[in-house]
Order: sequence, then C-alpha cells, then structure tokens
Amino acid sequence: MKNYFASVALAVAAVSGAGNAHADTVKIGVIGTFSGPFALEGKNFKAGVDAYLALNGSKAGGSDIEIVYRDLPEADPAKAKAIAQELIVKDKVQYLGGVYFTPDALAITPLLEQGNVPLVIFNAAASIITKKSPLVVRTSFTVWQNTTPIAKAAAARGIKTVITTVTDYGPGADAEAAFKKTFEAAGGKVVDSIRMPLKNTDFGPIMQRIKDSGAEAAFAFVPAGPNSLGYTKAFADNGLKQKNIRLLATGDLTQEPDLPALGDAGIGILTGYHYAVSHKSAANDVFVAAASKALGSPDELNFAAVGAFDGMHVIAKMIEATGGKQDAAKAVAAVKGLAWESPRGPVSIDPETRHITQNVYVREVARVDGKLINKEIETFADQRDWGSVGN
Ligand code: PHB
Repeated sequence: MKNYFASVALAVAAVSGAGNAHADTVKIGVIGTFSGPFALEGKNFKAGVDAYLALNGSKAGGSDIEIVYRDLPEADPAKAKAIAQELIVKDKVQYLGGVYFTPDALAITPLLEQGNVPLVIFNAAASIITKKSPLVVRTSFTVWQNTTPIAKAAAARGIKTVITTVTDYGPGADAEAAFKKTFEAAGGKVVDSIRMPLKNTDFGPIMQRIKDSGAEAAFAFVPAGPNSLGYTKAFADNGLKQKNIRLLATGDLTQEPDLPALGDAGIGILTGYHYAVSHKSAANDVFVAAASKALGSPDELNFAAVGAFDGMHVIAKMIEATGGKQDAAKAVAAVKGLAWESPRGPVSIDPETRHITQNVYVREVARVDGKLINKEIETFADQRDWGSVGN
C-alpha cells in the first residue's frame, strides 16, 4: 500500500514537472467599468464571466478558477497600469482579462512580459493593441473590422456622400480611416470628418454641422455608454431623420439596453457589428439565458458580455494547456488558431495577429414583436480586415 502511494506521487511529479506542480487555484484579474457612467458595460463583463462559469463549471485543466475583479470606471491609463501592476504583483493573478477602453489596454501591455501574464481583452478595440505585446489576445472585435462592412453596405444602397463623426481617440481614428478608405474605394465621397471629445459632448453643434455638410448620411463611432445614446437622441431631436439624412454607425451606437429610451426615433439606423442580442442561433439562446440570469434582467444584456464569455473560454483553454502553471508564452501559443462557436457565430483567434476572425453583420434598428432590436439583415462572413491605424 505504501509503495502504491509513493509511485502515484512520483507519477504526478513527473507529469507536472519536478518541483513545479500545477496551481490548485488559478487567479484571473478582470478589470472593468464596474461603477460610474459605464457601469452597465462592467456589469455585462461580469455577466459574461458568470454565464461562462455557470455553463462550464469553475475548474479548468484540474485547477479551480478564482476571479479577482477591479473597478476602472473611465478611461484612465495611469490608473489602469497601477491596477494591473497590483493584480500581477500583490494578487498574483496568472491572467488578466477585461478592459473596456483602448487607452487602458495600451497602458497595461508593457507590464505583461515581465509579469509573465497574458492579457485577454474582452472589449478594447483599436487595431494597434495586439501589436504592443505578443501576450495580448482579443475576443471582442476591432472597430476597423466592424466599420468596413457598413461602408460597403452604404455604397451598395446608393449613398454617395457621407460625413464621418467619431470620438477623438484611437478607436475613433480607426473608424474614421476604415470608413473613408472603404467607402471611397466603393465610389462614395466623405465630404467632411468631425472628431468629438470622449467626455460629455453637447451634440447639438455636431448635428448642425451634419446638416450644413449636405451629406446624404452621417457615419458615427461613439463608444457605447452615455454618449452613444446622447448622439442618437440628438440625431432624432434635431430633425435629421426628417431631412432624410441616413444614420450609419458601428453597433456601439445602438447597444440594446439603450433602444427603449431611443424609441421609434431609432428605427432605420444602419449599423455594422459582430453581435446582436437577437442573433439567431442555438448557442446564442443558451448564452442569452445564462447571461440574463446573471444580470437579473435580459433588458440589460449587451455585446460586452459576449466578449467576456468568449474571453473566459480562451483563458480556460490557456489554463488547460499549461496545466495551471504560469507560462504566459505557452498559454498564448496554445490558443493561436483556436476556433469555436461563439454566441455571435463561428470565431477563431488568428495565429499571426491574435485578432479575432468573425462574421460582421449589417443590422437595422427595427421593432420586432413589439421590441426594438438590432435586426441582422446581411452577413459579411469571416472578417479578417482588422485594420492598421490608430493608437
Ligand atoms: C475602446 O475604447 O476600444 C472602445 C470602447 C467602447 C466601445 C468600443 C471601443 O463600444
């Protein structure tokens, strides 16, 4: 009997590497906007994580998973860096996940290699982030990837002139460049380009400039939150729809929880995006049920939950591949080329860029069975044009 136990112990030591047994508990630090103006998006990160754990259990590769949440209410690179540092050094997390805003993700990337920690981004969407560190993998989207299909859809609908209106930071610069390049290649003309501040915008003057430009349509990128609803409301209140000016955008502008407040004024807004809550698939039905349960209300569900849900899938695969040991390079190598069925459709991690390949859908805000939704009307399959500018 004694010998039996001794040989089992030896075998375990051999499998896990001498003196380096797998961690019983692997900690994942999740940074999100859990309070403040973007609390809804943080709540959706948590709902995505909770939905993943509810459906898949809280173990991966024999280790228990422990989530350590940290609040970062607004884009604040210095604070982002300090929080990530603390998670790595004090909390000893093996993985970082989350991050809503691009400037925060960019502030964290320099810490990853020394900390031996991968960062799986649940949202931040400027193209450049994955280039800043080989240890970044992104399960959300790039703004560029979601913009090119809507530019093509606009041209296909016979729209000839557009004014672009974007938030003045990295993801907005990506949106502006992607729209102009794609729309003009398809024969259209961008007649003017407006940059809007990240915080507390008065959209009245923007709406006036859109009217004055004479463009047939406005294209908008605004990060989802109070300002995205502010923009769509201003578009309605300033009578642009009545003037037959079309509103085109990435889906960040029309997150589902905002649609009731926008009301019928939102009907007809045309967007490009990787995920709609109303996406029709069995995988999405399962996800929506689990995430709605975690949120306590299906009406609060948005895209951020899907980025988190899929982010947890990627981190679980990393933990399996490393047997719970801290080896960031091995963890990232293990998910290069990983393909799975997401609630949004089929996705995979591109082995070279660590961007996500996915379908992007053209959607129209519509009332279906009494409810305002982002109705998917066209699919651009396997979008791999992740873009190249912005910071
Ligand atoms: C970003 O900062 O990368 C970002 C934030 C919110 C969005 C999209 C992009 O809706």
